Amino acid sequence: MTGLAPITFVEPRSYPSYAADAPALDSYGRRIDYLRVSLTDRCNMRCVYCMPAVGMKFLPRPELLTNEELVTVLRAAAAAGFRKIRLTGGEPMLRYEIVELVRAIKSIPGIEHIAMTTNALRLGKLAGPLKEAGLDRVNISIDSLDPQKFRQITRGGSLDDVWAGVRAADEVGLRPIKLNAVVVRGMNDDEVIRLAALTTEHPWEFRFIEVMPLTGVAGLAEEGVISTAELVARISAHFGPLEPYGQDPSDPARRYRIPGAPGKLGFISAVTDPFCATCNRMRLTAEGRLHLCLLRDDELDLRAAVRSGAGQDEIEQLIRHAVYVKPWGHGLPEGVLPTLRGMSQLGG
Ligand code: 5AD
Ligand code: SF4
Repeated sequence: MTGLAPITFVEPRSYPSYAADAPALDSYGRRIDYLRVSLTDRCNMRCVYCMPAVGMKFLPRPELLTNEELVTVLRAAAAAGFRKIRLTGGEPMLRYEIVELVRAIKSIPGIEHIAMTTNALRLGKLAGPLKEAGLDRVNISIDSLDPQKFRQITRGGSLDDVWAGVRAADEVGLRPIKLNAVVVRGMNDDEVIRLAALTTEHPWEFRFIEVMPLTGVAGLAEEGVISTAELVARISAHFGPLEPYGQDPSDPARRYRIPGAPGKLGFISAVTDPFCATCNRMRLTAEGRLHLCLLRDDELDLRAAVRSGAGQDEIEQLIRHAVYVKPWGHGLPEGVLPTLRGMSQLGG
């Protein structure tokens, strides 16, 4: 464990009380209003940079927050000032009753925006119902344009199914569509130009993500990381100088455009250029723990509170406390890694 010890509901009065009706600020003054919610740690792919091929252990269903418990937690989060929710996994579309869950979350007062990060294998079927239930946007992983190689990287995923998902998302208006590739040297870095070229034909944002050394994939990540600086140089050498494009301070992606392109490029460099100063987010794991920083182990158990009968106000206070003690900075540049969870339990 780094930083603070994990806090549970065992001593519910051991933290100060926080003002209601104010946005939740952490002790560094950052406004935290974006919650990434992992709905399951399971996935129907096994991307090499995310999970080992064999030996993954998944949570038994009773360990997960039920949909009802999750909605209780998210009501409290909204009361604490959270405005944007992203559903992640594992693969969020493997969650039972996902459409009804989206509808329930969308109806929570204060929640303004719901997005989903998905591998899109089931999106062809679900895009319509999800949009109708209130989903606003999707981010889709697509690490290669070559079906063979895509199958290798994802250990079995079908690129055709992913494209069907992208088309369906476009048709029903889950826009703007953002596509993500984790770039690993020797794996797919030879496709960076082709992937970037998608934005010259489509109004999509294509985001290149530096591979992070989370539990289970640290070796691959340390050897394979390619810095944003190198990627930008390679893409500019091909298309000409990239134009910086309307930076949103709370978006970790540095955004650019290929001159004249309808789409945009984004570069997310957690490893070589951390963006802690503008961090606006926390994570909720599938078993109901607030995970305070992606790259640290600190967590606060909300499931214990919910299951011991805490009301919304008490849960809101716990969430405000978690925000207050949210850490600053991570140890990646020094090689200090989180140990408790892999990416598939955190949802990126
Ligand atoms: N480093 C960076 N991003 C990762 N993802 C999964 N594993 C890693 C990693 N080691 C990303 C996927 C997906 C999201 C769920 O997390 O690309 O977009
Ligand atoms: Fe599944 Fe996403 Fe991890 Fe790939 S990166 S194994 S799609 S959770």
